Amino acid sequence: MVAMRGTLKGRDVISINDFSREEIDHILKVSDGIEKDLDSKFGLLSGKILSILFFEPSTRTRMSFESAMYELGGRCIDMGPTELTSVKKGETFSDTIKVISKYADVMVLRHPSDGAARYASEISDVPIINGGDGTGQHPTQTLLDLYTIKKESKLDGANIGILGDLKYGRTVHSLVYALSMYGIDMTFISPPDLSLPEEIKEDLDDKKISYEECDKIEEVIEDLDVLYVTRIQRERFPDILEYKKVSGSYKITKDILEGGVKEDLIILHPLPRTGEIDPDVDDTKYARYFLQTKYGVVVRMAILGLILGGFE
Ligand code: CP
Repeated sequence: MVAMRGTLKGRDVISINDFSREEIDHILKVSDGIEKDLDSKFGLLSGKILSILFFEPSTRTRMSFESAMYELGGRCIDMGPTELTSVKKGETFSDTIKVISKYADVMVLRHPSDGAARYASEISDVPIINGGDGTGQHPTQTLLDLYTIKKESKLDGANIGILGDLKYGRTVHSLVYALSMYGIDMTFISPPDLSLPEEIKEDLDDKKISYEECDKIEEVIEDLDVLYVTRIQRERFPDILEYKKVSGSYKITKDILEGGVKEDLIILHPLPRTGEIDPDVDDTKYARYFLQTKYGVVVRMAILGLILGGFE
């Protein structure tokens, strides 16, 4: 599906780089309007159908898109586990996309291969939303991350630390590109083997965006306004022994926070977590990761409404 830039109606959401800062700001503004007056939005997508095609596990992305569609009065059809579909009989990805695009007005797709969402957008009759493609991007996660940072801290001029698996983490990849559109100081904190891919750093260098890198959160945490933590993406490692070398190599605990952080630090995580934030941190004033998941519904309502013409 190809639509003109300048409007979100009929647009695919494949990469955060396909959107200007003005367009992102508009999505955040529409999300805020929805959050302030949620009840009046029911019925805006009445008669519209969202199809959900997930070739990888998901809790938040799948269910928050469903919730968003129902909040707007639309309906969802979910392909379900691939083992129960004709994929199991050998139907190609391309045929699957072509067929399901006849059943719905918009499609959200998650797939283990980088570029799968872009490819799907070239053959689908309806807009494709990338719900995560391999180690590529997760642009709607990024939009809800930005919304959370804007609501709970600040976007312009913030000092943001991104901790964890920066090599394989697709939420990080799209977030870094989005933050590069704002005047944000970024610090990348990871085990050396999981640092941000060179091509993303080259893109930042080309845009004259400065950043710092280190491998110990304790070295930088006192200067951060936002700490964005990610899990190690075990499923992306070609060799389990390589995963074992870095597993458990960082963990945010109350002790680390008590060692000195800004009063208004916020801690985010796209979730799921697998041990990198101690549950004791959940009750501190810094934790925002469960609120972040809640914001995912209004942001996905904005995305669906803008794509399908329910909002301007
Ligand atoms: N943050 C995120 O994408 O979570 P899920 O994998 O549960 O959708």
